[in-house]
Amino acid sequence: MTISLKTLSYIDGKWTEPSLGGYFEVINPANNSVISSVANCGSQDAVTAIRAASKAFQFWSKTPAEQRAEYLYRWYKLILQHQHELADLMTRECGKPLSESLSEVVYGASFLQWFSEEARRIKGDIIQSPNADKRFLVNKQAVGVCAAITPWNFPLAMIARKCAPALAAGCTIVVKPAEATPLTALAMADLAEQAGIPAGVFNVLPASEGQEIGEVFSTHPLVRKLSFTGSTAVGKILLKQAADTVKRISMELGGNAPFIVFDDADIDKAVEGAISSKYRNAGQTCICANRFLVQEDIYDKFIAAFSEKVKSIRVGDGLQPGIQQGPLINNKAVQKVDALVRDAIAKGADLICGGKVHELGGNFYTPTIIGNVDKSMAIAHEEIFGPVSPIFRFTDEREAIAMANDTPYGLAAYFYSQKMDRIWRVSEALEYGMIGINEGIISTTLAPFGGVKQSGIGREGGHYGIKEYLDIKYLCLGGLT
Ligand code: SIN
Repeated sequence: MTISLKTLSYIDGKWTEPSLGGYFEVINPANNSVISSVANCGSQDAVTAIRAASKAFQFWSKTPAEQRAEYLYRWYKLILQHQHELADLMTRECGKPLSESLSEVVYGASFLQWFSEEARRIKGDIIQSPNADKRFLVNKQAVGVCAAITPWNFPLAMIARKCAPALAAGCTIVVKPAEATPLTALAMADLAEQAGIPAGVFNVLPASEGQEIGEVFSTHPLVRKLSFTGSTAVGKILLKQAADTVKRISMELGGNAPFIVFDDADIDKAVEGAISSKYRNAGQTCICANRFLVQEDIYDKFIAAFSEKVKSIRVGDGLQPGIQQGPLINNKAVQKVDALVRDAIAKGADLICGGKVHELGGNFYTPTIIGNVDKSMAIAHEEIFGPVSPIFRFTDEREAIAMANDTPYGLAAYFYSQKMDRIWRVSEALEYGMIGINEGIISTTLAPFGGVKQSGIGREGGHYGIKEYLDIKYLCLGGLT
């Protein structure tokens, strides 16, 4: 079977017209052309989907784990089978180069594979009882109906990272994908249907703006768990709204990742890691290096090697062969990135390369490095979400750690050093949920993804991921003779 472009919402196993009848356009950021019009769902559609998910929960939570695993595995195989079509669609929706889209499809599919296996490993406990007539048991049960709000920068993988553990645990789910990338989400629903996943278990609601559906997700009493990936500002609103019904929450929010290069680092490897951490998806990932902290005595050497590579990054439409950096998601993103660069330069930063809208125009921004950045500049505090590397100087390890931790965020951090004692000291001192040590790419299905401080709550991936979708139930069995 092939996948066809789906443009309606997917509720209770049916392709459904929006209740208010509206549609919105999905735009290709490489040329601002309209890819398609998609159903614009609102609060009524969200309530319908939540009710369908609640009805489906009655049988899905009782479906044996073995069978839930088989559904997930079939979905995984179908995604791999259609990886080229999915990657093409993803590049047209969000702009990332085709090679990155393909990697994302494989990365996203791996969550379905992993959690199809984890479904079989949900285990309880028996606690030794001090009383002859009592036994204490601990059971794990699916949380209930879940709601997920997912971002445009990883249109497939973030849905898979939330839905795979939810379905494996026995939960049902309603997803609101980002307005920029609903088509990839609907293609996933198409494949879920082809995999035979029963009606109501997985639902997708496209919408042109998230507020209305976000409010239903975070306040509806039938929703027992909300998982959100996006900005810290929106995360805080959802948290407040979810407080009244005391929902379980997972939040993967903003970051301000430091990338520290110590003077004992292997500079070539640090440059390689810097390129992959910073310029993946044109700098539009939550875990992108956001501040480069480079030790004084290797500062010039690092910049010389780094800028040589950055200047050679090939920018263009991600569908063209050999392109390494696509457009930013829209013009607002370009304006924001450019304003941060202008502010830094006006306050005394050095422009090393780039620093302007790319000659292709539109949503393309030149890969940029600015040096001698300090904390008076807005770029030191804001998540850039663009292909710009601000470089700060530091003199010693203590100063580097203080600078790295001087932020309310705590998602990912990176550092390069070859000294084992420093590696332990620094990794323990950094207030972050994930640390790349001599490595710029840290994402994997197998490890817990998530942050501390204002970067979020909970973990996705690894054997930790499924716990977010399971309640612990203690059983006290008495009256035994
Ligand atoms: C993100 O940017 O939110 C996700 C990045 C990843 O999973 O690698």
